[in-house]
Amino acid sequence: MVKICCIGAGYVGGPTMAVIALKCPSIEVVVVDISVNRIAAWNSDQLPIYEPGLDDAVKQCRGKNLFFSTDIEKHVSEADIIFVSVNTPTKTRGLGAGKAADLTYWESAARMIADVSKSDKIVVEKSTVPVKTAEAIEKILTHNSKGINYQILSNPEFLAEGTAMQDLFKPDRVLIGGRETPEGRKAVQALKDVYAHWVPEDRILTTNLWSAELSKLAANAFLAQRISSINAISALCEATGANVSEVAYAVGKDSRIGPKFLNASVGFGGSCFQKDILNLVYISECNGLSVVANYWKQVIQINDYQKNRFVNRVVSSMFNTVSGKKIAVLGFAFKKDTGDTRETPAIDVCKGLLRDKATISIYDPQVTDDQIQRDLATNKFDWDHPVHLQPMSPTAVKQVSIAWDAYEAAKGAHGVCILTEWDEFKELDYRRIYDDMQKPAFVFDGRNVVDPEKLRAIGFIVYAIGKPLDSWLKDLPAVA
Ligand code: NAI
Repeated sequence: MVKICCIGAGYVGGPTMAVIALKCPSIEVVVVDISVNRIAAWNSDQLPIYEPGLDDAVKQCRGKNLFFSTDIEKHVSEADIIFVSVNTPTKTRGLGAGKAADLTYWESAARMIADVSKSDKIVVEKSTVPVKTAEAIEKILTHNSKGINYQILSNPEFLAEGTAMQDLFKPDRVLIGGRETPEGRKAVQALKDVYAHWVPEDRILTTNLWSAELSKLAANAFLAQRISSINAISALCEATGANVSEVAYAVGKDSRIGPKFLNASVGFGGSCFQKDILNLVYISECNGLSVVANYWKQVIQINDYQKNRFVNRVVSSMFNTVSGKKIAVLGFAFKKDTGDTRETPAIDVCKGLLRDKATISIYDPQVTDDQIQRDLATNKFDWDHPVHLQPMSPTAVKQVSIAWDAYEAAKGAHGVCILTEWDEFKELDYRRIYDDMQKPAFVFDGRNVVDPEKLRAIGFIVYAIGKPLDSWLKDLPAVA
């Protein structure tokens, strides 16, 4: 029986290994993590992450060929294939702070593998890492080797949170990079054999190591770039009277462009896009490619601009001040169908409103109260000016309350901001919400989930990203 061990039981490690275990009954899969709480949650009825379809998959295999454990060394030493799926955040201090990937967790995992291994291993980079990381990992492993043969593969993960299970069951492609040596090719084949249990062969791409590592960064940069492109156009739509949904539809009808990932919004979030682009920027700079670096930097700058623009719209619409006003925030996760709040635009929007002394009441169907309070109390890292951190005042955090539903959040509010596209926000009884709000009642739709005309008919003043402006907003000074 082939034994797989995955180091890192997070958003990637957990679902990915659950699918491998489900599709490969002949393989034993153990997911290990240094976090005792995370492993306990994976072994309980309340999994540590929310992902549609994940509960079912875990329940079907847990205790059979899928295990979650904190006994990292034992399972690493017994495994044939070791996936490393630890977090690779942006460095916040030292060389490359604010851009480079922090490989501390990766390096400590690699050193531990070198320490405990007694037999040959295939080590798979599942985390997103800078190009050439495999070379560094190879050095760590082989310098301590004791005659053990290690093959490093790059197998970046392309799943998207919220649709992780369907992405894993039917991936557009699986990418495997390896050394172009007989041993390297053998290792690539061993990993191909795992995926071949359910992924058609023509969807399993093999490349050299560096292409695989760079492809992941490039794919995320392209995806984020599409969002920033349509968001840049949304600002122009508001200034000219065009409708961003109509523009996106017309643009996306061109088969060279395609219709996906063209929804204008308050901005992208999630743990990956910003971090991976910053990483790309850093690698470009390190290679002397400052023009390339500046090009990709703009994708993040437009994203920050979009979040600021949204806050400015809210404040300017409400007579240039939200001080003492109650704003209901519907949605805090970075997208629907996940409870993940890493880099969610809601953090920046809420902080912007709090700085203007608003009182905010937040409702999200999947994000816990603790998580929201933690996110709002944490200082934002200013990646362009790492030395000027802006602390969040403790009094500002007191201006936040958490509501158990959208109606409660909106009760007595002056304005409602929709910041995540949860389906339930489309179906709310907006008449009831309107009746319970202060007048004039505002809705600021950061995800284009409501029909502005229907809400206007109820009496709301509505701002929707990239849509023709309400006469109320048109008469105000331009927001840039
Ligand atoms: P995560 O933070 O949810 O999980 C990482 C886990 O690794 C944590 O539970 C942590 O305790 C554990 N860990 C860290 N160091 C360890 C060590 N030395 N030994 C054992 N466990 C250790 O991170 P997530 O979101 O799963 O991301 C992992 C990697 O996958 C990152 O590089 C990310 O960029 C990449 N990725 C993430 C995607 C996402 O949608 N979240 C999608 C595709 C790639």
